[in-house]
Amino acid sequence: MRTRRTARTVVAAFAAVLLAGSVAACGNSDTGGDSGGDDKIVLGFSQVGAESGWRTANSISIKEAASQAGIELKFDDAQQKQENQIKAIRNFIQQKVDVIAFSPVVESGWDTVLKEAKDAGIPVILTDRSVDSADKTLYKTFLGSDFVKEGRLAGEWLVEQTKTASGPVNIVELQGTTGSAPANDRKEGFAKAIAGNPNLKIVASQSGDFKRADGKQVMEQFLKANPDIDVLFAHNDDMGLGALEAITAAGKVPGKDITIITIDAVKDGMQALADGKFNFIAECSPLLGPQLMDLVKKVKAGEEVPARIETEETTFTQEQAKAALPNRKY
Ligand code: AHR
Repeated sequence: MRTRRTARTVVAAFAAVLLAGSVAACGNSDTGGDSGGDDKIVLGFSQVGAESGWRTANSISIKEAASQAGIELKFDDAQQKQENQIKAIRNFIQQKVDVIAFSPVVESGWDTVLKEAKDAGIPVILTDRSVDSADKTLYKTFLGSDFVKEGRLAGEWLVEQTKTASGPVNIVELQGTTGSAPANDRKEGFAKAIAGNPNLKIVASQSGDFKRADGKQVMEQFLKANPDIDVLFAHNDDMGLGALEAITAAGKVPGKDITIITIDAVKDGMQALADGKFNFIAECSPLLGPQLMDLVKKVKAGEEVPARIETEETTFTQEQAKAALPNRKY
């Protein structure tokens, strides 16, 4: 009898030590947890992947800004897979991070995991891309670009350039990742902008997944199937850069035989524009890190933040790219 009670006491003491250990590992329990174990805010960030120059610049911006703001960053690269992002968010919830931020690879299918974060009392910030959840209380704010506007600006430039065209202008479109907010929205904005001019026709439209290699491969198919392509609208610079190789290999001169319009304005894209190989770029800024860290601090402190924060952006012609290139940060 005495032996059994002693054993039970030892087990209870051991469990208490384990529990204390796990609480310590989870940090400040009063604030919903700080897995760093000190007073630093802990941010769990799930990144889409490393599909483009834009994404690389965005990851650097987030890492640098977190370190400058004294925020402990748990960074996860989802390799463009939604299931990896859901897994990462669940890990962050388990680790009781203070705030979760993520850039959703696609728009749909987030309600369940966002509800899990809400139930755990962990605020979520959407950055770069949004979700289509009807329940807007599942996240605190969305910081990022207006992708519809980017597509519209690209389309409006083309409408202006082709206003005196007397015959059909054949356009091919390289879409971003299927189901992603920038692919859906840029397509919509561009289509609406060109809708008023019956000469402007999208003759082929396919996803190049925001990647250079895919842009090249899809452009090769476009060129085989459509001998008279006048314009390429690529949803990002990287796909446009891949397409350049296909266009050159087909014996055509990019920027002259085929007008090329892209989105992002990363350095390689701006160089192609300055060199006359691209014709127009609508900017999408990846430098979201500093604003994101401000928001993280505010939501952690329980402050109200605007539901939507839009990134400031511009557009570039070839001349403007030449002037801007020397000071381009990414
Ligand atoms: O969500 C932003 C988009 O994602 C960028 O335009 C593209 O380059 C990236 O991969």
